[in-house]
Amino acid sequence: MEGILFPRGVAEGKESLKEYRARGGYGALEMALRELSPARVLQEVIDSGLRGRGGAGFPTGRKWAFTAESAEQPHYLVLNGGEDEPGSKKDRLLMENLPHLVLEGVILAAYAVRASRAYLYINANYKNAIQNMTGALQEAGKAGYWGERVLGCDFSLELPIAPAPPDYVAGEDTAALEVIEKKDPLPRQKPPYPATAGLFGKPTAVNNVETLANVPLIIARGAKWYRSIGTRESPGTMIFSLGEEVKRPGIYELAFGTPLRFLIEECGGGTRDDKPIKAVLPGGPSSAFLPPEKIDLPLDHDSLRAAGSSIGCGVVRLITAGSCVVEETLRIAEFFAAESCGQCPACRMETNILATMLKKVQQGQGGAPILEQFQKVIEFNKGKGFCNLVNMPGPPIESALKLFRSDFEFHLANGRCPEA
Ligand SMILES: Cc1cc2nc3c(=O)[nH]c(=O)nc-3n(C[C@H](O)[C@H](O)[C@H](O)COP(=O)(O)O)c2cc1C
Repeated sequence: MEGILFPRGVAEGKESLKEYRARGGYGALEMALRELSPARVLQEVIDSGLRGRGGAGFPTGRKWAFTAESAEQPHYLVLNGGEDEPGSKKDRLLMENLPHLVLEGVILAAYAVRASRAYLYINANYKNAIQNMTGALQEAGKAGYWGERVLGCDFSLELPIAPAPPDYVAGEDTAALEVIEKKDPLPRQKPPYPATAGLFGKPTAVNNVETLANVPLIIARGAKWYRSIGTRESPGTMIFSLGEEVKRPGIYELAFGTPLRFLIEECGGGTRDDKPIKAVLPGGPSSAFLPPEKIDLPLDHDSLRAAGSSIGCGVVRLITAGSCVVEETLRIAEFFAAESCGQCPACRMETNILATMLKKVQQGQGGAPILEQFQKVIEFNKGKGFCNLVNMPGPPIESALKLFRSDFEFHLANGRCPEA
C-alpha cells in the first residue's frame, strides 16, 4: 500500500515548509486551533486507537488523558527521538525527511495535553535530523505555528531541542526526563509514571517520533478514516526496518495486519543469496524468535503476541540457514549486558550472567545442566528493575532454547557452531 506518513510523491530529502503546506501540511493544526478544543483533539486521538510506536504499543490517547486531566501545572510533552535500537532508523528518517510533519504532530499533541513546553529529545549522533528539525522549527516559528499565541490563539508553546546521549537506555522515557533535567540517563522507579509526575515532577506525555507523526493525519482526516487502515486493535500503519539479510534493506511503511511474508518477500526481495529462513526476530532484540512456518503471520500487536513474540518498534531481523542461533543469542545478550545502565542490581547481574552463560555454551562449557539455568535466571529477575531492560534478554533466549535446542546441544558437545 501507499504509506500515509511517507506518501508516494513526497520528494526524497528534507521537505520544506512550502512543500509540506502544498500537500495540506499544518492544515490540521490551523483547523484544530480554530474549531477544536484540546479535549476534542484528545478525543479524536483516543477514538483513532493510535498506539505508541516506541515499543510497548500503549494507547496514545489514554496516556495523554492522564496528562491533560492533571491539575498540576505546567504540563510538558517530550518527543522521544532517542532512537538507539540496533537496526532502527525510522525516527531518524522521519525527522530528516519530514520534519514539519513531526513538528505539526508535536504541536497538536502539546495542544491536546495542554503543555506549554515540548522538548524535542533527539539522538545527539543524528546530526542531520537535528539540523533539519532546527531548520523546520525556524520556518514554522516564523509562520506562527509555535511561540507566543500560536496563530493568534490563546495557546503558547516553547519548543527547545534537547540532545539525547547515544545510549540505548537514554531512550527509556524516564531516562529521557533525567537527561532533560541535566542529569545522567538513568531510568526512574515507577510509579509514579511520567504522564502524571514526569519532567520536574510535573505531568509529562512522552511519545515516540513515529507516534506523533501520525497525529496530523488523524486530526485532518478523522479517527474513522484512520481506523479504516490496519486492524481493529492496531489501527494505522507501522514503519518496519529490514537489514542486510534481505536483498533490499530499508524502511517500509505497511498497514498493520500485513503478512510478514509480504514485508520479507515483496518489500525486502527475499533473503540475500536466497537462503531459506531459519528464524525471524520480528520486533528487535527483545522479541522472541519465530520459526519460518510463521511467515504468514499478520504484523500487528495481537497476532505477534498470540504467536509468543512482539512487534517492538518494527525492526525485523532474519536468521538464515547456516547461521547459528547460539551466536545470535550471545550477541543479543552481550548487547543488553553492555547497555544495562547498572543502577539496578538485578538487571546488572542478570544481563551479565546471561551473557557469560551463553559464552560458556558457545565454547562448549557447562554441560547439559547449564541449559536449565537460563530459565531460572530470567524468572528470578523478572520485573526487578526500574525499567523494562531487565525483561528484555528473556524472550530471545527462552524462544531460542525452545526452537533451536539442538544448536545449543551441538555447541555444548563440540564447542563450535553446527554449521561451521
Ligand atoms: C531500554 C529502553 C530503551 C528505549 N528506547 C526508546 C527510544 O529510543 N525511543 C522511544 O520512542 N522509546 C523508547 N523506549 C520506550 C519508552 O520508554 C517509552 O515507552 C516511549 O517513548 C513511549 O512512546 P510511545 O507511547 O509513543 O511509544 C525505550 C524503553 C526502554 C526500556
